[in-house]
Amino acid sequence: QFFRTKNWELSGKTVLITAGPTREKIDPIRFLTNHSTGKMGYAIAEEAVRMGAKVILVSGPVSLAPPKGAELIEVESAEEMYRAALEYFAKADALIGTAAVADYRPKYIQKDKMKKKEGEQALELERTKDILFELGKRKEAHQVIVGFAAETTEIEKHAIGKLARKNADLIIANDVKQKGAGFGVDTNIVTIYKKDGSKLELPLMAKTEVARRILSEVSLLLKRDDS
Ligand code: CTP
Ligand code: CA
Repeated sequence: QFFRTKNWELSGKTVLITAGPTREKIDPIRFLTNHSTGKMGYAIAEEAVRMGAKVILVSGPVSLAPPKGAELIEVESAEEMYRAALEYFAKADALIGTAAVADYRPKYIQKDKMKKKEGEQALELERTKDILFELGKRKEAHQVIVGFAAETTEIEKHAIGKLARKNADLIIANDVKQKGAGFGVDTNIVTIYKKDGSKLELPLMAKTEVARRILSEVSLLLKRDDS
């Protein structure tokens, strides 16, 4: 069994992570969600603990064991995730948004179970809050924001757009159509887009290794601020 010791690269730092999917209620029985399993976010949380950080993990519903040494805050909806993240953001040195937050939620939550009827049924949706965008507006000079971008087309264009729109320092982009980079697997193929215009293309690797690479970029950005 592998036993890895702490390296303290992030000691004294607080890292806030969002992870997993969100659930947006339709009625007492049903909800809208997506394929996120939380693996990438939980891997980052574990690695950040190992690097000596205080870790706050705001997680949607997943079936993973809580990472040892991290504070786990369990939420369901995008709105709950937003509120939890907002509460902790001011004290965080870094925010890493790995969550697959629902972009839309049902406009009305039915109090009782919807019964089937003849014919079609429409579902009216409204936008949820963009957590990274909202926190990006509140970001202070010493804080680092990292976003993810799971794309299927025009990856670079979307990644660079998200860097600017969310006031992020790094966007971790992946092409979810590529084998080994999608949802639920233990590996990922990512390109890290940085605010300075450079990018770092990483080959297929374990999500734990991707986590390590992302966090060492974060620690470099935080050190730059310390000096
Ligand atoms: N994100 C978020 N809150 C949302 C939507 C997204 O915090 N309501 C974060 C994700 O956690 C991710 C980043 O924003 O770190 C990009 O998410 P993504 O879904 O790729 O981008 P969107 O801005 O939602 O745009 P689109 O889905 O149209 O590509
Ligand atoms: Ca989205």
